[in-house]
Amino acid sequence: MAESMKGLHRSFRCAEINKSNVGQTLTMMGWVAKARNKGGIIFADLRDRSGILQIIFEEKDCGAESFAKAERLRSEYVIAVTGVVEERSGAVNPNLATGEIELRAESIRILSESDALPFPIEENSKTREELRLKYRYLDLRRPDLQRILMLRSRITSSIRNFLYEEGFLEIETPILTKSTPEGARDYLVPSRVHPGSFYALPQSPQLFKQLLMCSGYDRYFQVAKCFRDEDLRADRQPEFTQIDMELSYVDIDDVLDVNERLLAAIFKECIGVEVPLPIERMSWQEAMDRFGSDKPDARFGMELVDITDVVRNCGFSVFTGAIENGGTVRGINVKGQGEMPRKKIDALVDMAKGSGAKGLAYIAIQSDGSLKSSFGKFMTDDEMNSIVQKMDGQPDDLLLFAADRNKIVWNVLGQLRCHLGKQLGLYDEKSYKFLWIVDFPLLEWSDEENRFMAMHHPFTMPMEEDWSRIDSDPGSVRAKAYDIVLNGYELGGGSVRIHIDEIQEKMFEVLGFTKEQAHDRFGFLLDAFRYGVPPHAGLAFGLDRLVMLMAGTDNIRDVIAFPKIKDASCLMTNAPDVVDKKQLDELFIRTDIPEEKTDNQ
Ligand code: AMO
Ligand code: AMP
Repeated sequence: MAESMKGLHRSFRCAEINKSNVGQTLTMMGWVAKARNKGGIIFADLRDRSGILQIIFEEKDCGAESFAKAERLRSEYVIAVTGVVEERSGAVNPNLATGEIELRAESIRILSESDALPFPIEENSKTREELRLKYRYLDLRRPDLQRILMLRSRITSSIRNFLYEEGFLEIETPILTKSTPEGARDYLVPSRVHPGSFYALPQSPQLFKQLLMCSGYDRYFQVAKCFRDEDLRADRQPEFTQIDMELSYVDIDDVLDVNERLLAAIFKECIGVEVPLPIERMSWQEAMDRFGSDKPDARFGMELVDITDVVRNCGFSVFTGAIENGGTVRGINVKGQGEMPRKKIDALVDMAKGSGAKGLAYIAIQSDGSLKSSFGKFMTDDEMNSIVQKMDGQPDDLLLFAADRNKIVWNVLGQLRCHLGKQLGLYDEKSYKFLWIVDFPLLEWSDEENRFMAMHHPFTMPMEEDWSRIDSDPGSVRAKAYDIVLNGYELGGGSVRIHIDEIQEKMFEVLGFTKEQAHDRFGFLLDAFRYGVPPHAGLAFGLDRLVMLMAGTDNIRDVIAFPKIKDASCLMTNAPDVVDKKQLDELFIRTDIPEEKTDNQ
């Protein structure tokens, strides 16, 4: 039977002691990671979140009763052991923080026993993730996940300290609220008291933080839970955490300055990495042209080259057709891969098609300088040579081309570039390359909606010098918006907000909101602005992504204690789940789900 803690106090965590504690009598508690019975002597590895301590049981030290208990120990039993710290009698283990010492047990209590485990608790687990997520509480005992969650806690605390020092106030904003304009689908919560009405969970605290500026809390921050019902990817979760902030009486430079100092401080404090300041700023246009992405991984080259002018009048209709339709032809030069087997090139073509391309054209420059190409037969030698020249093609290089509308060309080549950069090991995985992306377009044309949409959100301030073109050429107006990008991930983003009535009204007009619609959705914010609003700006980091990159993992689930899987469900709690009819009745909700959509299919 399990025993109680009565009268016992844990002296330290397992790995918090060292040679300086030799001779002390201590009480240590934790899980049995491993127990080895060598006849008259039993070794047990005691584990907690600090690490592992070796315990040694011999009947002469601990007496018959305790020794009998030690003989029963199995993995994951929770025990308390009192004993004397001594230098290791056997071989020193250089891999353990406590490798030079052990605890010679004088008594033991078994605080709780454990059933046989569904999978072993081990570093770099080979167990499939679904099973580990079902038993997440066990998975979280793994030292690698524990290190990450401890790092996450340290990062959050460093951020808080830094922001307090800089005069920010931590203020909470509601979770039960109205829809916020971040562009994803809302999670809705039905109201019992107002039948037929719904709260929306916040996609971000955007509107509230702007209201706090109206109320005079001129530097706000929050570690904010945000909820977005969108398709999940490796770096997205339906609920995630932002480090959200807003500042009054500032312009772009002020926001970038405090945030890059914040990043430098936490990288130094939490993982010992120096971030050289200032962080390079790159315009959105340059990022797209050079890297095909607004979140470029700038740790390596293989930049995009625009060959539109070179092929404008060539004989290959795929190229000329794309150009005639207002598109471009661009390429990347994959150095040293000219002899890539056809099968592998075909795989790249498939990948390009997966990212929206109609095809991917290539020139493989052989080591003797001759060309193998998917479109050579449509071109003259001169035309081929001028393409190779424009691409700086050398023997053994593989040149890949996409022809289409810019958006597609950028996306296709941007993704291929990242894929190849990783596959070919073109950068040091452990290095960090930050970039500020600035000068975003204010608006983005949506074919689906047949109107302009806000690229960031409708409260983003246009560049003063571009504003006069809002009617004549709205697509060319740039925004006072910025993203912070790290190694190909968007870590955070924000903008200077509109605090001038006339500009806000015009923005709503351009976005196709009527006055009534704008007032219906954001009326409280627009009203607040009528009573004296300071110019303000802000930014939000995705904390999960930040921790993910600082911890060196590429799976966002590794940095969240209880994450959800791709279909937004939780394998451990089985949420979302059906509820009692009584609960639905109270909310006046009736479900009407087509047969093929029910979960139990
Ligand atoms: P934005 O929508 O860019 O801006 O969000 C800010 C940052 O939050 C992170 N993020 C996510 N992380 C995990 N899972 C998700 N589903 C997810 N969605 C976003 C990203 C992103 O850069 N209110 C504005 C900020 C502002 O203007 O001040 C906002 O929410 O790292
Ligand atoms: P096709 O004439 O369609 O067989 O195409 C000839 C070559 O051009 C093939 O290698 C295709 O993959 C490639 N291709 C087709 N469409 C595009 C495109 N939009 N951009 C780049 N290459 C393309």
